[in-house]
Amino acid sequence: MTLLEKIEQTSSYIQEILKDKPKVGLILGSGLGVLADEIDNPQIIPYSEIPHFPVSTVEGHAGELVCGTLKGKHVLAMKGRFHYYEGYTMEEVTFPVRVMKALGIGTVIVTNAAGGVNTEFEPGDLMIIEDHINFAFDNPLMGKNHSQLGKRFTDMSNAYNKDLIKVAEEVAELIRMKIRKGTYTFMSGPTYETPAEIKMIKFLGGDAVGMSTVPEVMVAVHSEMKVLGISCISNMAAGILDQPLNHEEVIETTQMVKAQFISYIKQILLKI
Ligand code: HPA
Repeated sequence: MTLLEKIEQTSSYIQEILKDKPKVGLILGSGLGVLADEIDNPQIIPYSEIPHFPVSTVEGHAGELVCGTLKGKHVLAMKGRFHYYEGYTMEEVTFPVRVMKALGIGTVIVTNAAGGVNTEFEPGDLMIIEDHINFAFDNPLMGKNHSQLGKRFTDMSNAYNKDLIKVAEEVAELIRMKIRKGTYTFMSGPTYETPAEIKMIKFLGGDAVGMSTVPEVMVAVHSEMKVLGISCISNMAAGILDQPLNHEEVIETTQMVKAQFISYIKQILLKI
């Protein structure tokens, strides 16, 4: 079956279930799925029931679509995402974004937990993603281009929508929340980086590092959707502090900032 046929089947399946047409897609990273629990009048569809959806395997990631309203906006949230390091192809990782587009979604808010590379950052900070570096050297747009889905050569010079960045900055100011801005670097994982890799990333202009987001953003931009990216700095990247890295710390930090994260994204939704 072709990608186009799969997108068609999956979006029809979801469309038949949903009462409302979602306008904003939310992709929720490690420990950040709690935002989906805030959705009013939720309709929940487990990934396991959705045709052509892979099943998420990571701890701290549920695996369901939650659709409803958040601050009056019709949203479709992915509680749990598919990571490249789980062994999925780039096409599988980004398939839900294709489906979002087919459902009529025009804006995606992509979130993640990330390691802080910029030494001014602290665990618990939220960072607006201004740009990214693809250090996994794979691309979901490789292979046949379906012109119905987007252009062969996608301009990435404004991947992260400037108007949405401005809104995100204004909202942070409004609620008096410290906000960072920077470049997110995508590494395939699942190993955390070495201290030498982090030095390199810092030298090349990366402010944060993580194992997600970039594939989805590439496909969202290909689909001509507007993207806002928010990272939760869950730990300082390898070699910055004299301490080992682990997934527990990542989840602990996201737990710590969840109230702030939830109110921030809700306020952003009010303004977009
Ligand atoms: N590196 C890569 N991915 C991550 C990190 C990190 O330090 N923290 C959370 N996700």
